Amino acid sequence: TQPPVNVTVTGAAGQIGYALLFRIASGQLLGQDKPVRLRLLEIPQAVKAAEGTALELEDGAFPLLAGIDIYDNPKDAFDGANIALLVGARPRTKGMERGDLLEANGGIFKPQGEALNAGAADDIKVLVVGNPANTNALIAQANAPDIPAERFTAMTRLDHNRAIAQLAKKLQVPVSDVKKMTIWGNHSATQYPDIFNAEVKGENAAQAVNDQQWLENEFIPRVAKRGAEIIEVRGASSAASAASAAIDHIYDWVNGTPDGDWVSMAVPSDGSYGVPEGLISSFPVVCKNGSYEIVQGLQINDFSRARIDASVAELSEEREAVRKLGLI
Ligand code: NAI
Repeated sequence: TQPPVNVTVTGAAGQIGYALLFRIASGQLLGQDKPVRLRLLEIPQAVKAAEGTALELEDGAFPLLAGIDIYDNPKDAFDGANIALLVGARPRTKGMERGDLLEANGGIFKPQGEALNAGAADDIKVLVVGNPANTNALIAQANAPDIPAERFTAMTRLDHNRAIAQLAKKLQVPVSDVKKMTIWGNHSATQYPDIFNAEVKGENAAQAVNDQQWLENEFIPRVAKRGAEIIEVRGASSAASAASAAIDHIYDWVNGTPDGDWVSMAVPSDGSYGVPEGLISSFPVVCKNGSYEIVQGLQINDFSRARIDASVAELSEEREAVRKLGLI
């Protein structure tokens, strides 16, 4: 059998961690033939809770789970990591300005970037889930100069999956009939879910919908504000759906996207579609042989252009803010 893949998960004792770890242990992150070793990172106060989750993981008797180690410092947690899922972050609390939020998260993602740089395996792949995810990923990436920048990604797959589900519901088709959905920009309320390049059973999705009112006033805000809707209805933020999206993101990155389809990932821009180079912005990507490429040559109409530009402008502002704070 193959040697286990080292998967480091931060924020392991949190609610996403609780949903995520069991799916990793069962083989859904990488595939049924790949054993995994879990390396959990938590803050010291939450290490005991992570140990409790580790007891439950043991009780799952997962054939692919080769071991679990728990750490309270990034240097040890990322040593030898092949996959890093950065879930733990500092949430926005009442009265906190965006600058404070970015600074607090810089205190987490800068040292984590440095630790990845120092000790991660050569094939490291990083997914940042913790918010503000795109800019947290940028901070980690900027502090890991020896790791190729494109290995740092942020999660917009939950938004992508939400957009597919809402479109399928509108057209009353199974989700598997929807292909080529794209989320552009920031994982925030400014994100732009694009159905102009999506297809439903081979037909252009915007044409199949043919309802600009629904697109502007229902679909886009519903997808962009779904996180708030979940909090409102569930009384807690999205957790299992976020974990599921993180599984999808890494699985596809490692195993490839199906022919005739693509997925959304926030990745360092190479300047494609006018997104300033280096910003970690969401794009349509195709994955193959463990790497991804931004899909080129898509038509961007005026409506889409304005929405993409607005979300990208927000990312530029966040980059400027963390630059001023000396985090990148
Ligand atoms: P949670 O509060 O239940 O868990 C977060 C965990 O992270 C806590 O156990 C905490 O102790 C830990 N943590 C904090 N600082 C840490 C550090 N420096 N190192 C290691 N662990 C640390 O939060 P939840 O619900 O699990 O969400 C986690 C993050 O994911 C939040 O930032 C949330 O906003 C974000 N999120 C992102 C989504 C996306 O689509 N990109 C979707 C849903 C949530």
